[in-house]
Amino acid sequence: MKKTERSLSAWRPMPLDTFLLGVPHYPEHVDRSFLERDADRIADAGFNVVRMGEFAWNLFEPALGQFDFGLFDEAIAVFGSRGVRTLMCTPTATPPRWLTASEPDLLRVTAAGTTHRHGSRQHADTTNQHFREHSRRITGAMAQHYRANPDIIGWQTDNELNTSYSESFSPSATAGFRSFLRDRYARIERLNLAWGGRFWAQDYDDFEQVELPYPMTPVASNPTQVLDYHRYLAHATAMFQRDQVEILRSVNPDWFITHNIGVIRDIDMRGDFARDLDFLGYDIYPFLKDERLREGHAFLQALHIDLVRGAAGNMLVPEQQSGFGSQPGFATVVPEPGEMRRMAYSSIARGADGVMFFRWRPAHFGAEIYWMGILDHDDQCRRRYAEASRFAHEVGRMASAVLGTSVSLDVGIAGPDFEQEEAIKAYSLGLPTPQDAAIPLHRYCYERGISCGFVHPEDAIGRLKLYFVPHWVMWEPRWTPLLARFVEDGGTLVVGARTGAHTPDNHMIADTPPGELRALCGTAVVEFGPLPPPDAPALQSDIDTPAHAAGRPAESSRRRHAITIGHEQVPAGWWYEELAPDDGTEILGRWNSRFLAGTPAITRRRNGRGTVVYAGTLLTPELTAALFAPLFEAAGVEPLLADLPPGVEVTCRERDGSRLLFILNTRAGPVALASVPAGTDLVTGRVLDRGRLVLEPYGCAVLQQAA
Ligand code: GAL
Repeated sequence: MKKTERSLSAWRPMPLDTFLLGVPHYPEHVDRSFLERDADRIADAGFNVVRMGEFAWNLFEPALGQFDFGLFDEAIAVFGSRGVRTLMCTPTATPPRWLTASEPDLLRVTAAGTTHRHGSRQHADTTNQHFREHSRRITGAMAQHYRANPDIIGWQTDNELNTSYSESFSPSATAGFRSFLRDRYARIERLNLAWGGRFWAQDYDDFEQVELPYPMTPVASNPTQVLDYHRYLAHATAMFQRDQVEILRSVNPDWFITHNIGVIRDIDMRGDFARDLDFLGYDIYPFLKDERLREGHAFLQALHIDLVRGAAGNMLVPEQQSGFGSQPGFATVVPEPGEMRRMAYSSIARGADGVMFFRWRPAHFGAEIYWMGILDHDDQCRRRYAEASRFAHEVGRMASAVLGTSVSLDVGIAGPDFEQEEAIKAYSLGLPTPQDAAIPLHRYCYERGISCGFVHPEDAIGRLKLYFVPHWVMWEPRWTPLLARFVEDGGTLVVGARTGAHTPDNHMIADTPPGELRALCGTAVVEFGPLPPPDAPALQSDIDTPAHAAGRPAESSRRRHAITIGHEQVPAGWWYEELAPDDGTEILGRWNSRFLAGTPAITRRRNGRGTVVYAGTLLTPELTAALFAPLFEAAGVEPLLADLPPGVEVTCRERDGSRLLFILNTRAGPVALASVPAGTDLVTGRVLDRGRLVLEPYGCAVLQQAA
């Protein structure tokens, strides 16, 4: 079932010929009498895969070098007899107590010097060479044991690497960091240059003198040291995984290998971590990832999947939230009837080519007893089983039309890029990272049904109509000609403030910003500085303005940081740049307040058949609308469906001219769309004429457009 296609692209389809549908199952949480009826109900639901084993190291290897796979062999066979195959996991997220007791050095150490203790998970230090040996041993034993088992289709490495904690300040991390730096810089003089050792007397004589960047010791750490530390953590994570991948591939090259990314922390989704895998997996917990955005969970899910797809293409969702979830410290809200199915369709709509609902049944003990599954604690099938089963049968029927398609994109946002994110985190100025700075544009498109996603400059950006680079400070010169060609060929490029302002070591450039991009943008940044975030309360100095005298204090604080664009005044936030456009560059927007009044804030230049806009600020929702609406019109960017009602998501997946429109109602009331094209709804099999479509609460349609 596996085909090989490793190059990373936002448009890369999944290299599998089966659409995976299923659930994580934990045979170790029930007695064996459950297996037969679980297997029957799983097969009846329309599922074809279960995931197992990610936390069961203590059972696979009850004592050093003694292995027992009996429970899992039996479960795999029982499921296999019903046509349900197994995605097996390496269990390295939970090393057993005999191991941490005999080798306490394997435990992670925090920056405060606290050693993580046994009794949770992800407590072992993936930078530790001895832990890597144990990881190779258990992986090797499992791979050998299952090498010829026809019911094992592939592997997941570990479980959500770095989700709980990614840092380590252990002696092994110190040694690993030094050796990483030796490989990166070869000579200590080069490290001193990269880290700016002349500043605050931070030159080193030898790599052995270098320490981990303990935070605030006593004030700010060297930002390039911090950046390199995160580069190292991402590298160490990738190498920990690579050990397992190499073993699994050498034992059985037919297995696919993936990983379920959770919180994206010290993981480079376009680096070795992703290139070593056949495809990425991404766990969908939109209620969990940001409790503040509960009402915005549909958007949040879209944003997160788009980021992961932007790195490496279509993915598996090894865990799709089904019911409400909890650990002792929190509880999420409850997906309502119909919503779980809608959320699963949203995953497919944005590039999932496999969905597994977390989890088959909730646990009765441990730290997740209130993490609901498809079943309830009393082993009954209720609404979630009915919904999951409906979904799996529907998707099973449309699978061949979906597999091999890619999510179409008119608008691209540069990203994700590990280095750009870390560059800002290492010296943030209180600004959002590039990914977060792009949210207003992503959301603007999401709400209007405009196809927009993340695309790296090294990907096929020529397929886009408009490309936005949020503030990518640490610019790589090799990207400049890629953008120039995009514009020459007729693309619309929008470059955000601060892009190109730093070198690849995160130093300030010595040229006038945007440095490398100055000729392309046709503008220069002659002054810059921070602004309050868009939603910051008014300051005393804001209030002391003529507007306040006229009795409009709230307005005055917004005015102070506004840009006039066309006939509109829009609030700016985060950052200002005063621009000096070259001859032939026009001014699209001007600052309109205080010492900046009248100075250029946004410029536009035509190059070849295309256009380059430079925006000397970060996006606010209002600026996004005022700036991008006319640019979209000029670039021919249109919504996938006109007059999209609020709360309806739409995306298009396509292959060789055939198009699937995913039209999903994210709200609890019915909704009517006025003008959908003619086609066949693959959910119901109904042929629809051009015109009206009514969706039930959380209703979903997948419209295969008539040719
Ligand atoms: C994921 C994790 C699962 C489970 C789930 C619900 O992060 O991979 O093991 O913990 O969240 O909390």
